[in-house]
Amino acid sequence: MRGVLETLDEAARRTLLEELGESARAFRFDVAPNPCVGAAVVAGSEVVARGFHEAWGEDHAELRALRAAAASDVPRNEWDMLVVTLEPCSSRGKTPPCVDAIIASGIKTVIVGALDPDPRHRGQGLEVLRQAGIEVELLHNAAPLDIVSPHFLRWTSRDRLRRARPWTLVKWAQTLTGQLSPPQDVGDGRWISGPEARAEVQIMRSHVDAIVTGIGTVLADDPRFTVRPPGNTDAPPMRVVLDSLLKTPPESRLFTAPGPGEAGGVVRVLGIVGVSLPRERALRNAGAEVHGLPGGKDKRLDLRAVQTWLWEHGVRRVLLEAGPALIGSYFDEGFIDQLRVVTGSVRGGRGESLGERLATARLLERRDGELGEDAVLDAFLEGAES
Ligand SMILES: NC(=O)c1ccc[n+]([C@@H]2O[C@H](COP(=O)([O-])OP(=O)(O)OC[C@H]3O[C@@H](n4cnc5c(N)ncnc54)[C@H](OP(=O)(O)O)[C@@H]3O)[C@@H](O)[C@H]2O)c1
Repeated sequence: MRGVLETLDEAARRTLLEELGESARAFRFDVAPNPCVGAAVVAGSEVVARGFHEAWGEDHAELRALRAAAASDVPRNEWDMLVVTLEPCSSRGKTPPCVDAIIASGIKTVIVGALDPDPRHRGQGLEVLRQAGIEVELLHNAAPLDIVSPHFLRWTSRDRLRRARPWTLVKWAQTLTGQLSPPQDVGDGRWISGPEARAEVQIMRSHVDAIVTGIGTVLADDPRFTVRPPGNTDAPPMRVVLDSLLKTPPESRLFTAPGPGEAGGVVRVLGIVGVSLPRERALRNAGAEVHGLPGGKDKRLDLRAVQTWLWEHGVRRVLLEAGPALIGSYFDEGFIDQLRVVTGSVRGGRGESLGERLATARLLERRDGELGEDAVLDAFLEGAES
């Protein structure tokens, strides 16, 4: 067998880690708040396979690399090492712990580019691997998180861990002039973006635990917030309506059964505690779960209480699909971690614009792209409250 650590010298291992980190960053908006991670299986000085964490809730990079290596023509007994930008996880999250898959692969050496900064896990993954007889080398500063995954440092910061709230991703479509509702005679008075951007929304919905909306959107559009292909319909997110006074009509389409091939999560209406027993009963009869939360400013739901409620109900990643009133409140509270703004080719429109907020927000790691006819902006937000 080849001498293991000599197969790829330290400079080459560092270069490989840098490359993996750089490629992993391409998925930053799809995996956050998870870290961007890249991994490679190496035989001799040859990279047999690479793998990346590509979407929140889906397989981790190590697993993808091991699977791709298994599909290659290099036999398992020739795999010398696994190179991975971040310490492999040792606890079960949405997926089983990666250390188990690494140990099961029979690989004898693991090279790691950074430690998990979460004080609850830091170093544990390396320890489990060592106890299983695997040689582990930590290459300090080879894949630093402040370059590969700055968002993950914010997510695992002490303040954030102390006041836990879900990662909040807001998405809106706007016209060329910045309105969130098109002119009444365009797109049924509702649609601004084209089919490509709307198909992406289905994928985004299948990568969150909850979709949150406001009663304004429910009353204006009667949306369903279901997941349809190309989104994954296996575990649709819960649908949460922020409705201080429980004005959601019991006959809303939210309560109708999903159509063939689509899926809809449980509908939860959050109102101010004790606001109206008859309306609460009517919504329950329609199929909703109704929860009473404290009121905040303007006799509206207190968003901090909403965030805590979501966290306590197992929600870690939220997609906010609402109108300007609720999105504005989320901005005010500093609760937005990430945004996607789709600008369609429609002119004019109705309602308030979020243009001013966008212009003054501190956008991080911004990416501008196109989807069909639409312009798409993705970014993280600086200064999100923790
Ligand atoms: N282009 C897009 O991406 C997009 C997406 C969704 C909607 N829309 C459009 O947006 C329009 C509706 O906008 P909207 O602003 O009226 O609806 P919204 O933002 O969805 O809902 C606003 C309502 O949420 C409730 N709410 C509960 N707690 C709140 C809080 N802490 N802060 C703020 N609001 C809170 C308030 O009603 P209570 O006080 O009664 O609780 C408020 O009136 C529609 O025309 C729809 O088509 C566009």
